[in-house]
Amino acid sequence: MTSILILNGPNLNLLGTRQPEVYGATTLSDIETMCQKYGDSHEVEIGFAQSNHEGVLIDHIHAAKGVHSGIIFNAGAFTHTSVALMDAIASVELPVIEVHLSNIHAREEFRHKSFIAPVAIGQICGFGAQGYLLALDALTAHLAR
Ligand code: DQA
Repeated sequence: MTSILILNGPNLNLLGTRQPEVYGATTLSDIETMCQKYGDSHEVEIGFAQSNHEGVLIDHIHAAKGVHSGIIFNAGAFTHTSVALMDAIASVELPVIEVHLSNIHAREEFRHKSFIAPVAIGQICGFGAQGYLLALDALTAHLAR
């Protein structure tokens, strides 16, 4: 069975209470439940992880190789800063879809730059929690090619 890792970076554990006017009222646990339901109905195994630490996220990416077929990744603020996460993705050669709840291109200029985008197969942003389900559709279609 296809297995997809959904990986979330710093501060996303606070979803639901963190700036709800920007990120919505859905919690990370709600998002996990939505994704698990998607997995059950589409026969996709879903792994779910979150860390506030860059090195731990890198370890998750390394560990995904040979276990998962692809990764849906919201790297949070590390999106805009982390060459190390970009290198980790390039190293494992797994298809990655970059997700953001907010439309990073409509926000401050420092959020327009993504170190994940050049090594991702695509980016979904601005659709709130729904973006994770859009990414699951996109990644499963990509894997079924
Ligand atoms: C975010 C956007 C980032 O700029 C921000 O630092 C986050 C959340 C999003 O999902 O919209 O932590 O990745």
